[in-house]
Amino acid sequence: MIDLKNVVKSYEEGIRAINGIDLHIDDGEFVFLVGPSGSGKTTIIKLLTAELKPTSGSVHVNGCELESIKKKKIPYLRRTLGVIFQDFRLIDNLTVYDNVAFAMRVIGASNRQIKKRVPYVLELVGLETKSRRLPHELSGGEQQRVAIARALINNPAMIIADEPTGNLDPQRSYEIMMLLEQINALGTTVMVVTHEKELVNRFTKRVVAINDGKVISDGMDGYYAYEE
Ligand SMILES: Nc1ncnc2c1ncn2[C@@H]1O[C@H](COP(=O)(O)OP(=O)(O)OP(=O)(O)O)[C@@H](O)[C@H]1O
Ligand SMILES: [Mg+2]
Repeated sequence: MIDLKNVVKSYEEGIRAINGIDLHIDDGEFVFLVGPSGSGKTTIIKLLTAELKPTSGSVHVNGCELESIKKKKIPYLRRTLGVIFQDFRLIDNLTVYDNVAFAMRVIGASNRQIKKRVPYVLELVGLETKSRRLPHELSGGEQQRVAIARALINNPAMIIADEPTGNLDPQRSYEIMMLLEQINALGTTVMVVTHEKELVNRFTKRVVAINDGKVISDGMDGYYAYEE
């Protein structure tokens, strides 16, 4: 569950990236977060992962109060979140399997748990036949699916994806969104940040639009609804 109340975030230079946002996302929802470049989307994600603290207001995520969270509780918060970055952030010299398994090892999973879970998640994202490949032997869409598998591997309550289809063609982008929709149907809350209007409008989902650090519309009307 995400709950933002009157959140303001100013960067050191005095730029007010977030300018009084209220936003509530329930467990199990699928939400698109849209808005022009510089409107504050990535800043919101960084507030949700406790990479940044709000200047004022409250940020509650999966039972944690992030405006006052202690450093040692941050790993606990992050285990409830699967974050997908635009640039994938895969480890070049590890296979698909090991990239995904690595995320389980770092939280102390046993070999037995890893052997059971990794093949299941690779199959979910459609990469079961590519588990021995290195990242550079994959297409962009396949690399993106490895990043999704890695975000899912520790069974987070919530997936947060920052421009997950940034470098993909429309068909591949659509497939990635369908995959996130399928993951949502299995019970995971999903928040997708994207610029891609046509893609958003192919789905009937909640769309939160932001501009200049404020929510300017929130509803099921698609991306174009708030434009002139
Ligand atoms: N580390 C930083 N220091 C100072 N200002 C920053 C910093 N990061 C972002 N900003 C500013 O905050 C505002 C919001 O940036 P943010 O990265 O959240 O936008 P965005 O909506 O994710 O844009 P894009 O679609 O281009 O990724 C912008 O004006 C940006 O220049
Ligand atoms: Mg951004």
